[in-house]
Amino acid sequence: MDPDFHPPPPTEPYFDTERDVWVLSRFADVSAALRERALYQATPEGEEIQTGADEASHSVVFSQVRAEIAEVSSGGWRKKMQVAGETVLREATGKGQMDIMGDVTHPWSIALLLSLSPTPQSSAKDVADIVASLLYEKEWQSGGGDSQTGNPALKRSARWSPVEAEERLDQMTESKEVTVSKAMFMAVSRTLPSFLAKSWLALLRNPDQWRRLQANPQLMPNAVEELLRYAGIVHTLQRKAHREAVVGGVRIPQGAKVALKVMSANFDPARFSEPYRLDVGRKPSGQFGLGAGLHACVGALLVREAFTVLTPIFFASNPVLESGQLITWMGKKTLHWPLAVLVRFQDDAADTDSAEALTSQPTPAV
Ligand code: HEM
Repeated sequence: MDPDFHPPPPTEPYFDTERDVWVLSRFADVSAALRERALYQATPEGEEIQTGADEASHSVVFSQVRAEIAEVSSGGWRKKMQVAGETVLREATGKGQMDIMGDVTHPWSIALLLSLSPTPQSSAKDVADIVASLLYEKEWQSGGGDSQTGNPALKRSARWSPVEAEERLDQMTESKEVTVSKAMFMAVSRTLPSFLAKSWLALLRNPDQWRRLQANPQLMPNAVEELLRYAGIVHTLQRKAHREAVVGGVRIPQGAKVALKVMSANFDPARFSEPYRLDVGRKPSGQFGLGAGLHACVGALLVREAFTVLTPIFFASNPVLESGQLITWMGKKTLHWPLAVLVRFQDDAADTDSAEALTSQPTPAV
């Protein structure tokens, strides 16, 4: 059992009087809620999100991101991800100790954004600073490291507050210095690096599973789904009842807030046997790591592709978790991801020049 990866178990639907919200956490209830048209996307405060309430503007965002994904897929996205991953890993392995977020997935996402959205040299630093400012929020700006965990990797500094960073991003999008949509920018620079770091942490804590994956690369499609289930970074999705609805056997009145505990649902034993066991061979169909139903993640293809391309490159360098570190978890109302994960590389590191090199030289399963 690994408490860092174990959400509270699912329960019957209930009304949380303190927070004034209906809470649904069983797999079947969350699944029904994600498909219920009367429930609109909302903020944790209960404000309907524009795209949830307004079909027209929702379909504009949806089509824009879909078109971008189609374009980047045809433009050799996979190759770009691979090259950026190999470059970042080469630099990171030169350090005695490195942080998965700060030294690998974060710089990788910046390299990728710059290759997707060619940006003048003078603006490239701003792109990197926007990403850092959104990721390492104000509380980490002191630059003194984290006194609680003594983790030097937390010595990151942010140039702007998250609000200022978003304003700068809006300016750059308007002036076409950044040509990908804001939705794409945010997802590639925040959710994707966070998911990669969390899923690699799960694999590092279960070395039998990553060795099994190295030895059996054909398990990769199952492994992606399993890691989205076991190490997904979205713990709660918020909804608001636009009109009365019956979900999970309870009547949700018009205007009520609804919290969907997707992480708990992903560990529902009624749906997934031995849910607390990470098993890269299982087929966890229907997991909610990328949502489901009416607002399922539009970037799902890219997420799966990024995991598939980068995971072998990362593990080819033989990383081991730095012992004794306390993980600082970030996120409150929606997300849950590690701020930093310290690793070092074993001396007998494999050749990181290509992902193929790894998959053609499997290590034995344990
Ligand atoms: C690991 C990374 C990612 C995770 C964990 C993630 C997760 C999710 C989840 C859970 C939802 C459902 C939201 C809801 O039901 O309220 C969602 C929706 C969405 N995602 Fe992602 N996502 C990721 C990456 C991406 C990427 C790379 C893109 C774009 C390139 C993207 C674009 C979107 C969009 C546009 C929606 C809204 C869909 C709608 O409202 O119909 N996501 N994502």
